[in-house]
Amino acid sequence: MSVGQGAVRAVDAGGFDYAPLEELLRKYEGQRGALIPLLQGTQAAYGYVPKEAMVRIAEALGEPLSQVFGVATFYAQFRLVPRGRNVIRVCHGTACHVSGAPLVSAEVERHLGIGDGENTPDMMFTIESVACLGACGMAPVMMINDRTYGKLTPDKAVDAVKEFAALMDGGQAQPSAADDGRGTVAEEVA
Ligand code: FES
Repeated sequence: MSVGQGAVRAVDAGGFDYAPLEELLRKYEGQRGALIPLLQGTQAAYGYVPKEAMVRIAEALGEPLSQVFGVATFYAQFRLVPRGRNVIRVCHGTACHVSGAPLVSAEVERHLGIGDGENTPDMMFTIESVACLGACGMAPVMMINDRTYGKLTPDKAVDAVKEFAALMDGGQAQPSAADDGRGTVAEEVA
């Protein structure tokens, strides 16, 4: 099934902004097999795949919503809930795991009062356990958005989170990009 347009939407009563999605639908108009790229583009634009977007994509494709939802839930790359403005990725690859990553995670989670994969109530932070961040020589490692912190102890990790929050307050750190990627090369060693 190729992408059609259907009724173009703007902002709905709930405040959902369809503009980025409508742009994507225009980009893939007439193309077949566009469901995955549409979902990827949606996630890049919104930071996750909102249900409003799935409904609109299903309409544009002329597919049942269950089909779109099924694909979005099948692939681990798609997130169906929003994430915080800043994503803390604690590496649990082998080198980090044996160097104390579980303790680092536990302390960061305790400090923020949330678990792995959860958002703080103010949506400031999300914590995620991830596989190797490519900085094994600095294990254990975590990233906050595109900043990398290495040779961590649980206390250093919490200090890094506190410092980052202070930088955010002072406008010296940037929130995570919607299209989050794995980050860049190591920049900072705690
Ligand atoms: S295992 Fe953590 S950076 Fe490689």
